[in-house]
Amino acid sequence: MKLSTQHLLGIKDLTKEDISLFLDTATQFKEVLQRPVKKVPSLRDVTIVNLFYENSTRTRISFELAEKRLSADTINFTASGSSVAKGETLLDTVNNILSMKVDMVVMRHSASGAPHFLAQHVPAAIINAGDGVNEHPTQGLLDAFSIREKLGKLAGVKVAIIGDIMHSRVAMSNIYLLKKMGAEVTVCGPPTLIPKYIREAFNVNVSYNVEEALNWCDVANVLRIQLERQNQVLFSSLREYNLSYGISRKLLDRLKKEVVIMHPGPINRGVELDSDVADSGHSIILQQVENGVAVRMAVLYLLSNRNN
Ligand code: CP
Repeated sequence: MKLSTQHLLGIKDLTKEDISLFLDTATQFKEVLQRPVKKVPSLRDVTIVNLFYENSTRTRISFELAEKRLSADTINFTASGSSVAKGETLLDTVNNILSMKVDMVVMRHSASGAPHFLAQHVPAAIINAGDGVNEHPTQGLLDAFSIREKLGKLAGVKVAIIGDIMHSRVAMSNIYLLKKMGAEVTVCGPPTLIPKYIREAFNVNVSYNVEEALNWCDVANVLRIQLERQNQVLFSSLREYNLSYGISRKLLDRLKKEVVIMHPGPINRGVELDSDVADSGHSIILQQVENGVAVRMAVLYLLSNRNN
């Protein structure tokens, strides 16, 4: 089977078959990662640049590790310390890097649409590692992989996405993916952090009551408040946010059911998630991070055309 796309710019562009192919291939790579020798030669002689214009811990390390496990050659570029500070444009930077015979570009950028722009102007395969408030497709894939691994399916699973929906590329990629794969989605948070159009545009439920959302769902994907993307005051204080929307042990104990807790990271402990939940048996947060490597191996492998 082949993907319908040359790039991974967003889940929005993928078919249901593309998503299943990514997840099934990731299952095979997860098996490789359990072996004593975790390296395969699949991307030998493929050169990949990791181009990070915005901070990252998990995504950058995960891509780098996935590339090494596949035997690719990798270059890491961060905007700080580069000639971007001297005024070089994104296109000039990438064209200069590509002239050194680079095959694939993994890019994180604070501007929504930056990877789409690159894909129109350069011949390499582009993988979006998070663009502004638009999408974070590999996070969406690894979240889905983790849900499927935990619950055995995606179709019919009830997922509550809780927090700053307005500024979250993770929320967007999760919504696109879960709806395409037949899951049910409720978004939950303060009214000021949920776009007014979301119910009609994406066919999701909206709740402003976190206990109601938790009692409804099988899985809660809890999101960070993206203060760096907010240019106005959208709620009174982090303390009040925690009192109204934070997930605490006390709140989980009041529920009539078990809920799987997910978080893409980085966690702001004591704001959206208390430590006794983040570190509890309800949480699969570190499994998400582990699965991220297998999912990114699948993405790199399938987009490299080495599987033909
Ligand atoms: N989940 C995620 O994108 O984390 P980083 O910002 O640390 O990459």
